[in-house]
Amino acid sequence: MKIAMIGTGYVGLVTGACLAEFGHQVTCMDKSEEKIEFLQAGGIPIYEPGLAQLVGKNIGEGRLSFQTDMRQAVQGAQAVFIAVGTPSSRRGDGYADLTYIYAAVRELAHCISDYVVVVDKSTVPVGTARQVARIIREENPVADFDVVSNPEFLREGAAINDFMRPDRVVIGTESEKALAVMKEVYDPLYLISTPIVATNPATAELIKYSANAFLAVKISFINEIAGICEAVGADVVDLAKAVGLDGRIGSKFLHPGPGYGGSCFPKDTLALLRIAQENGVAARLVEAGVEVNSAQKARMVKKIIDAMGGSVAGKTIAALGLTFKPETDDLRESPALTILPPLVERGGIVKAHDPKGMDEAAKILPNLHYMNSAYEACKEADAVVLLTEWNQYRALDLARIKAGMKTPVFIDLRNVYDPTRMREAGFAYTGVGR
Ligand code: UGA
Repeated sequence: MKIAMIGTGYVGLVTGACLAEFGHQVTCMDKSEEKIEFLQAGGIPIYEPGLAQLVGKNIGEGRLSFQTDMRQAVQGAQAVFIAVGTPSSRRGDGYADLTYIYAAVRELAHCISDYVVVVDKSTVPVGTARQVARIIREENPVADFDVVSNPEFLREGAAINDFMRPDRVVIGTESEKALAVMKEVYDPLYLISTPIVATNPATAELIKYSANAFLAVKISFINEIAGICEAVGADVVDLAKAVGLDGRIGSKFLHPGPGYGGSCFPKDTLALLRIAQENGVAARLVEAGVEVNSAQKARMVKKIIDAMGGSVAGKTIAALGLTFKPETDDLRESPALTILPPLVERGGIVKAHDPKGMDEAAKILPNLHYMNSAYEACKEADAVVLLTEWNQYRALDLARIKAGMKTPVFIDLRNVYDPTRMREAGFAYTGVGR
């Protein structure tokens, strides 16, 4: 099948490459000439494990191409995916900014000749599919099309696997014809018996927000319990294991930490609150989840200062990990961005390291010192703070770290290390909830 992908950001690029891998003929389109030229030359603008190889392979085998011209990209396509960005609006009021989607759709409307399925892939507020259809009809009254909401559930760092082996595929449409096209798009997933949830567009749109909000609340729940564990001398890691073994609860997303970040949970929880508010419905659990997450980040600052004897002034802190999670170069809403600046404001000297996020971090946090390795960051440090659980921080040479430090204070915001072993190794160790 011939497919067009509008937008070559994270979602567009991963989806385009994976659909090409399924065997479809995919043209990815983006307004940015610079970006398209870079992609055509084999460049990948983001870090996502396996993506460069997948893109390269499918370009090589002639199934994936890049284009700046909308008309050429959608020529002959049976499905056109809209995967342009939906940032939080600049007003900071929780609204998703749909400017890019609507602009893309207006242009697309004039390129439709034969029947086409227009697929909303971006995470958008309930009612967007209806708006998209209205805009196309307004711009091109004779266009033959259907609009489908097909939310993505990709995790950064694991996006290709999430696409190729999803828990489910959600298809929101009122049209049988569009549903048939979408089933053909995802045909290879039938072989691995992937459940397909076919529903109406509004439900599909809300499924995405609900899934992300539930996971965000689950994380906030365990972070709150971690605080209680600290107060009563319980161990949240054992607790989460036991609680998670209840099949009704499940062990995933029950890891306490410095609070969730990224481009999705913070944005989507706020957008869901906005949807509820606009419709006069309460969403108190999600509201609390968001508040607990902010409080968790602030609590981490206090935890670090306390572990360092009540003051960080004039002291050196090694910060390991800056991205919001491992296996990405993404710093959006990363806990590091909220936790590290207050330490610098209080006179701390922060020596940071991250395997992929330092270039971006240097632009946002110019007051940190960027080091070439974890060991370099820890040299002469008064404390080390582990913020992101990159694999290379899971197996540090602890003796080497300790030997280089001024004082062996280890603050492990991801509970990577075992407290007893760390104490035996001579560290003053602090975790989260243990
Ligand atoms: C999230 C969802 O997991 C995806 O299913 C969804 O498709 C995506 O948002 C999206 O809306 O596009 P992502 O933001 O890439 O994916 O990352 P996650 O792995 O979900 O992690 C989010 C944050 O939660 C990270 O800061 C992570 O460290 C934190 N987290 C996660 C915890 O603190 N504890 C956990 O147990 C799990």
